[in-house]
Amino acid sequence: MSQEKTKTITGFSKLSKRGKIRWIVENFFKDPEAVARELMSYWHGDEEQQRILDGFSENTISNFPMPYSVAPNFLINGKTYCVPMVIEESSVVAAAAAGGKFWLTRGGFNATILGTTKVGQVHFSWKGAFRKLESVFHELEDRLRSGAKEITANMEKRGGGVLDIELLDYTGLESDYYQLRVKFETCDSMGANFINSVLENFGDTLQDFIEGHPIFDDDERDVEIIMAILSNFTPECVVRAEVTCPVEQLGCFEGETSARHFAERFAKAVRIARIDPYRATTHNKGIFNGIDAVVLATGNDFRAIEACGHTFSAKDGQYRSLSQCTIENGVFRFWMDIPLALGTVGGLTKLHPMAKRSLELLGQPNAEELMMVIASVGLAQNFAAVKSLVTTGIQKGHMKMHLTNILNHLGAKANEMEEAVHYFEDKTVSFTAVRDFLEGQRRKV
Ligand code: MEV
Repeated sequence: MSQEKTKTITGFSKLSKRGKIRWIVENFFKDPEAVARELMSYWHGDEEQQRILDGFSENTISNFPMPYSVAPNFLINGKTYCVPMVIEESSVVAAAAAGGKFWLTRGGFNATILGTTKVGQVHFSWKGAFRKLESVFHELEDRLRSGAKEITANMEKRGGGVLDIELLDYTGLESDYYQLRVKFETCDSMGANFINSVLENFGDTLQDFIEGHPIFDDDERDVEIIMAILSNFTPECVVRAEVTCPVEQLGCFEGETSARHFAERFAKAVRIARIDPYRATTHNKGIFNGIDAVVLATGNDFRAIEACGHTFSAKDGQYRSLSQCTIENGVFRFWMDIPLALGTVGGLTKLHPMAKRSLELLGQPNAEELMMVIASVGLAQNFAAVKSLVTTGIQKGHMKMHLTNILNHLGAKANEMEEAVHYFEDKTVSFTAVRDFLEGQRRKV
């Protein structure tokens, strides 16, 4: 039997957690006992808590710890927040906190909800005459709405539900292809389950409708539902976050850069990210450093947020920076419109023990308030990154944080850490330089 064959298994999911670990360590690791101990060392001490975590996924064997941080001093629409962030990249939280603090004394962040509409689609294949379907669309719409009443009743009580249903003809691009595009209001939930349940119900109703309606000939009765699923592109579920102040209030910057000079360099850097997709991608990545960290900390779906944000950045046909900056009549204005389909009820938000704490830390916001907080953190993160880039460069702050990681990796003791931080204050940090420094110090003893 080949080596590879011994590494496949049937019935893995049926094994106990210890059984899964045993199979993994025996097949993939050189030191099975030590690895098994290590994996189990990350199990939650409280069995009930561990059971909750295991419920979020399948084939769980351990937990994957990530730092849980906070960025205090965020003044948003006149209210201060201490924002929870889950992220592994050195300096992201420090930068967010610095961005938050910078604007704390300059009026803080203003955030506005521009819309909260979500979208779903039923994609179907049909060989009938479109104008016939169009002519009875109002009938179909009534049938779709009444057929889904049981699913939508609760959401309607909360003020949401199905807003609008459109019938779209895509046969110019793909033969026999039509679409129902549906708009939803899902209130404080992200709404994925609700939307998908409604759409699957719509698919069934559509099929019944076309099969049974007298307007269609026999050879038009065959409709094939290809798929029914929400769209993560939500260009009408958008929040605007903004900071503004007179240019001279920006203060002075490293290297004796004046407020005006800084503002001009900053605005140019943002314009570059509007015109060049290479820069735009990194610029937006910086925004998502902050956004993803809060999205994760509050138990929301960061993949959905990222996917949507990037599509939105390219909505006019070219990928551009999400943020914009102007200097007009001596006033510096930096802002961003970003789609954020978030929830504060449902999903992991109340199930994950730490997500629940994050929402408590934020004062139990509703979905709209959370959108405003997260957009502001994204803008602060972007401000801090671009500010560093156009003044000192990014590596100074980044490598200071990275120094701690390298020292930990090399097993530095507390006194060695202190000496290293002092030594590298005015020197370039690299893995080799830190290792050489430590070896030098250790030789001295
Ligand atoms: C690093 O994670 C993010 C930055 O590259 C963002 C940017 O360049 O704007 C610093």
